[in-house]
Amino acid sequence: MKFTKPFLFLIFLIYSGFSCAQSSKDSDLDRRVKNFLEKHRSDWNDMNVPYTDGQVLYDLILKNEYTSALEIGTSTGHSTIWIAWAMSKTGGKVVTVEIDEGRHKEALKNIEEAGLSEYVDARLADAHQLVKELGGPFDFVFSDADKDWYTQYFKDVDPKLETGGCFTAHNVRNGFGGVKDYLDYVKSLPNYETTIDGSSRSGISISYKKSK
Ligand SMILES: C[S@@+](CC[C@H](N)C(=O)[O-])C[C@H]1O[C@@H](n2cnc3c(N)ncnc32)[C@H](O)[C@@H]1O
Repeated sequence: MKFTKPFLFLIFLIYSGFSCAQSSKDSDLDRRVKNFLEKHRSDWNDMNVPYTDGQVLYDLILKNEYTSALEIGTSTGHSTIWIAWAMSKTGGKVVTVEIDEGRHKEALKNIEEAGLSEYVDARLADAHQLVKELGGPFDFVFSDADKDWYTQYFKDVDPKLETGGCFTAHNVRNGFGGVKDYLDYVKSLPNYETTIDGSSRSGISISYKKSK
């Protein structure tokens, strides 16, 4: 088949118009999320992660191109927004679980305001039950609910976590509740490699799954 010059030029125009529309859509979303995060930077007071810890989660997801996230403990959605923003770039989605109805509703509003609703499946549920029931598979998990259940959450998610994926947990520096037992447990597993992120004041443990 022979293509004429005007025909090729037309294809070029359509393609470049499409690319521009895509990139301007992306940057609109980036601007919206950044504005939201800056505007609310000092407003988070429902046990939410600080801004810098949100950035750690975001970077981790982008670095590993994770696409299927689970968050345990939404609260009002600060960490959810960082995870969902990363998901908007990798083409993924995050399932997040919260037991408190007021916080769950507030999170939905915040996620909507940030423009990230399509990347979030927010569940109002008891994670003790729901985490067992969710099908997965997941490649990224952020555990930030009741600390004395951390080990059990890990055991429930482990079969659904892909090799190469990682399980992260918040507030591991203070050793409160079941955090010490959790760290001892996860560090004892030969198929996981666990480190503590150095930039986080409260401590985020990052456990990479090396094999089944
Ligand atoms: C530390 S806060 C989460 C903060 C959130 N990740 C953020 O940075 O915005 C812990 C949340 O876990 C929720 N939570 C505690 N036990 C839970 C359970 N069994 N199931 C679901 N959520 C639970 C609490 O209601 C609380 O909102």
